[in-house]
Amino acid sequence: MFNLGIVTISDKAWQGQRPDESGKAIREIFSAVDSRVVKYEVIPDEMEIIAGKLAQWADEGGVDIILTTGGTGLGPRDVTPEATLSIVDKVVPGLAEMMRAQTFSATPFSLLSRAVAGVRRKCLIINLPGSPKAVRECLEVILPVLPHAVEIIKGEVTEHTIPGAGRD
Ligand code: MTE
Repeated sequence: MFNLGIVTISDKAWQGQRPDESGKAIREIFSAVDSRVVKYEVIPDEMEIIAGKLAQWADEGGVDIILTTGGTGLGPRDVTPEATLSIVDKVVPGLAEMMRAQTFSATPFSLLSRAVAGVRRKCLIINLPGSPKAVRECLEVILPVLPHAVEIIKGEVTEHTIPGAGRD
Protein backbone atom coordinates (compact mmCIF):
# COMPACT_ATOMS: atom_id res chain seq x y z
CA MET A 1 0.00 0.00 0.00
CA PHE A 2 1.33 3.44 -0.79
CA ASN A 3 -0.01 6.97 -0.46
CA LEU A 4 -0.33 9.14 -3.52
CA GLY A 5 -0.45 12.86 -4.11
CA ILE A 6 -1.72 14.17 -7.44
CA VAL A 7 -0.88 17.67 -8.68
CA THR A 8 -2.48 18.81 -11.90
CA ILE A 9 -0.47 21.70 -13.32
CA SER A 10 -2.56 23.64 -15.82
CA ASP A 11 -3.47 27.31 -16.08
CA LYS A 12 -6.76 26.38 -17.79
CA ALA A 13 -7.84 23.74 -15.27
CA TRP A 14 -6.83 26.06 -12.42
CA GLN A 15 -8.96 28.86 -13.90
CA GLY A 16 -11.87 26.42 -14.26
CA GLN A 17 -11.81 26.66 -18.06
CA ARG A 18 -11.50 22.90 -18.47
CA PRO A 19 -12.06 19.81 -16.30
CA ASP A 20 -9.09 17.97 -14.88
CA GLU A 21 -9.30 14.82 -17.01
CA SER A 22 -5.64 13.92 -16.43
CA GLY A 23 -5.95 13.90 -12.65
CA LYS A 24 -8.99 11.69 -13.10
CA ALA A 25 -7.03 9.33 -15.36
CA ILE A 26 -4.32 8.97 -12.70
CA ARG A 27 -6.95 8.10 -10.08
CA GLU A 28 -8.53 5.51 -12.35
CA ILE A 29 -5.24 3.78 -13.04
CA PHE A 30 -4.23 3.67 -9.39
CA SER A 31 -7.63 2.39 -8.30
CA ALA A 32 -6.43 -0.99 -9.57
CA VAL A 33 -3.25 -0.76 -7.46
CA ASP A 34 -2.83 -1.14 -3.68
CA SER A 35 -2.72 2.61 -3.06
CA ARG A 36 -4.82 5.57 -1.94
CA VAL A 37 -4.91 9.21 -3.00
CA VAL A 38 -4.24 11.31 0.11
CA LYS A 39 -3.61 14.70 -1.52
CA TYR A 40 -4.89 16.33 -4.68
CA GLU A 41 -4.61 19.85 -6.03
CA VAL A 42 -4.91 21.81 -9.28
CA ILE A 43 -2.36 24.62 -9.58
CA PRO A 44 -1.26 27.08 -12.30
CA ASP A 45 1.93 26.85 -14.38
CA GLU A 46 3.96 28.97 -11.95
CA MET A 47 7.47 27.88 -10.98
CA GLU A 48 7.32 29.01 -7.33
CA ILE A 49 3.85 27.58 -6.75
CA ILE A 50 4.79 24.20 -8.24
CA ALA A 51 8.11 23.95 -6.39
CA GLY A 52 6.48 25.09 -3.16
CA LYS A 53 3.65 22.55 -3.37
CA LEU A 54 5.94 19.62 -4.15
CA ALA A 55 8.38 20.52 -1.38
CA GLN A 56 5.57 21.08 1.12
CA TRP A 57 3.94 17.70 0.51
CA ALA A 58 7.28 15.87 0.53
CA ASP A 59 8.38 17.58 3.75
CA GLU A 60 5.11 17.04 5.60
CA GLY A 61 5.46 13.26 5.12
CA GLY A 62 2.64 10.82 4.55
CA VAL A 63 2.90 10.92 0.74
CA ASP A 64 5.01 8.20 -0.87
CA ILE A 65 4.62 9.25 -4.49
CA ILE A 66 3.63 12.60 -5.98
CA LEU A 67 2.47 12.44 -9.59
CA THR A 68 2.31 15.70 -11.45
CA THR A 69 0.54 16.04 -14.77
CA GLY A 70 1.09 18.86 -17.25
CA GLY A 71 3.56 21.60 -17.94
CA THR A 72 6.31 19.32 -19.25
CA GLY A 73 6.36 20.53 -22.85
CA LEU A 74 8.12 23.25 -24.78
CA GLY A 75 5.63 26.07 -24.30
CA PRO A 76 6.63 29.33 -22.66
CA ARG A 77 4.56 28.51 -19.54
CA ASP A 78 5.82 24.89 -19.24
CA VAL A 79 8.06 24.89 -16.15
CA THR A 80 7.12 21.69 -14.30
CA PRO A 81 10.51 19.96 -14.88
CA GLU A 82 12.48 23.04 -13.74
CA ALA A 83 10.32 23.39 -10.63
CA THR A 84 10.73 19.69 -9.82
CA LEU A 85 14.49 19.71 -10.33
CA SER A 86 14.78 22.75 -8.06
CA ILE A 87 13.48 20.83 -5.03
CA VAL A 88 14.55 17.16 -5.41
CA ASP A 89 17.53 15.65 -3.56
CA LYS A 90 18.14 12.96 -6.19
CA VAL A 91 17.16 12.68 -9.85
CA VAL A 92 15.83 9.32 -11.09
CA PRO A 93 16.42 9.56 -14.85
CA GLY A 94 15.31 6.05 -15.82
CA LEU A 95 11.63 6.62 -15.12
CA ALA A 96 11.30 9.56 -17.48
CA GLU A 97 13.66 8.04 -20.03
CA MET A 98 11.54 4.90 -20.27
CA MET A 99 8.27 6.81 -20.43
CA ARG A 100 9.56 8.65 -23.48
CA ALA A 101 11.21 5.64 -25.11
CA GLN A 102 8.52 3.02 -24.51
CA THR A 103 5.64 5.24 -25.63
CA PHE A 104 7.44 6.51 -28.73
CA SER A 105 5.73 3.85 -30.86
CA ALA A 106 2.33 5.16 -29.67
CA THR A 107 3.35 8.72 -30.57
CA PRO A 108 6.68 10.27 -31.55
CA PHE A 109 5.47 13.36 -29.67
CA SER A 110 6.53 11.51 -26.51
CA LEU A 111 9.92 13.11 -27.19
CA LEU A 112 8.42 16.54 -26.64
CA SER A 113 7.82 15.90 -22.95
CA ARG A 114 10.71 17.08 -20.76
CA ALA A 115 9.31 15.20 -17.73
CA VAL A 116 11.71 14.35 -14.90
CA ALA A 117 11.51 12.24 -11.74
CA GLY A 118 13.33 12.52 -8.44
CA VAL A 119 13.31 11.90 -4.71
CA ARG A 120 12.86 14.50 -1.99
CA ARG A 121 13.23 13.10 1.53
CA LYS A 122 11.10 9.93 1.44
CA CYS A 123 8.90 10.97 -1.45
CA LEU A 124 9.21 9.98 -5.10
CA ILE A 125 8.09 12.79 -7.44
CA ILE A 126 7.25 11.93 -11.04
CA ASN A 127 6.21 14.30 -13.82
CA LEU A 128 3.70 13.06 -16.39
CA PRO A 129 2.65 14.91 -19.54
CA GLY A 130 -0.65 16.75 -19.51
CA SER A 131 -3.09 14.75 -21.63
CA PRO A 132 -5.11 11.83 -20.20
CA LYS A 133 -3.91 9.66 -23.07
CA ALA A 134 -0.28 10.43 -22.27
CA VAL A 135 -0.91 9.79 -18.56
CA ARG A 136 -2.30 6.32 -19.32
CA GLU A 137 0.51 5.42 -21.72
CA CYS A 138 3.29 6.62 -19.43
CA LEU A 139 1.92 5.10 -16.23
CA GLU A 140 1.62 1.72 -17.90
CA VAL A 141 5.40 1.81 -18.41
CA ILE A 142 6.46 2.74 -14.87
CA LEU A 143 3.68 1.24 -12.73
CA PRO A 144 5.37 -2.17 -12.25
CA VAL A 145 8.45 -0.66 -10.58
CA LEU A 146 6.72 1.80 -8.26
CA PRO A 147 6.04 -0.50 -5.26
CA HIS A 148 9.70 -1.52 -5.11
CA ALA A 149 10.83 2.09 -5.58
CA VAL A 150 8.73 3.13 -2.57
CA GLU A 151 10.09 0.27 -0.45
CA ILE A 152 13.66 1.30 -1.20
CA ILE A 153 13.03 5.01 -0.55
CA LYS A 154 11.37 4.22 2.77
CA GLY A 155 14.28 1.96 3.70
CA GLU A 156 12.03 -1.09 3.99
CA VAL A 157 14.30 -3.19 1.79
CA THR A 158 18.04 -3.00 1.62
CA GLU A 159 18.67 -6.30 -0.16
CA HIS A 160 17.53 -6.68 -3.75
CA THR A 161 15.84 -10.02 -3.37
CA ILE A 162 13.05 -9.47 -5.87
CA PRO A 163 13.03 -12.32 -8.41
CA GLY A 164 14.20 -11.11 -11.79
CA ALA A 165 15.43 -7.82 -10.40
CA GLY A 166 18.85 -8.58 -11.77
CA ARG A 167 20.78 -9.77 -8.70
CA ASP A 168 21.17 -13.15 -7.01
N1 MTE B 1 3.66 11.02 -24.29
C1 MTE B 1 2.81 10.03 -24.56
N2 MTE B 1 3.11 8.81 -24.15
N3 MTE B 1 1.64 10.23 -25.23
C2 MTE B 1 1.29 11.49 -25.66
O1 MTE B 1 0.21 11.62 -26.24
N4 MTE B 1 1.96 13.86 -25.78
C3 MTE B 1 3.15 14.67 -26.05
C4 MTE B 1 4.21 14.55 -24.96
N5 MTE B 1 4.26 13.25 -24.37
C5 MTE B 1 2.19 12.57 -25.39
C6 MTE B 1 3.38 12.27 -24.68
C7 MTE B 1 2.89 16.06 -26.34
S1 MTE B 1 1.92 16.35 -27.71
C8 MTE B 1 3.43 17.09 -25.63
S2 MTE B 1 3.26 18.69 -26.16
C9 MTE B 1 4.26 16.83 -24.45
O2 MTE B 1 4.04 15.53 -23.96
C10 MTE B 1 4.15 17.83 -23.31
O3 MTE B 1 2.88 17.81 -22.75
P1 MTE B 1 2.53 18.76 -21.51
O4 MTE B 1 3.10 20.12 -21.77
O5 MTE B 1 1.02 18.76 -21.46
O6 MTE B 1 3.13 18.16 -20.27
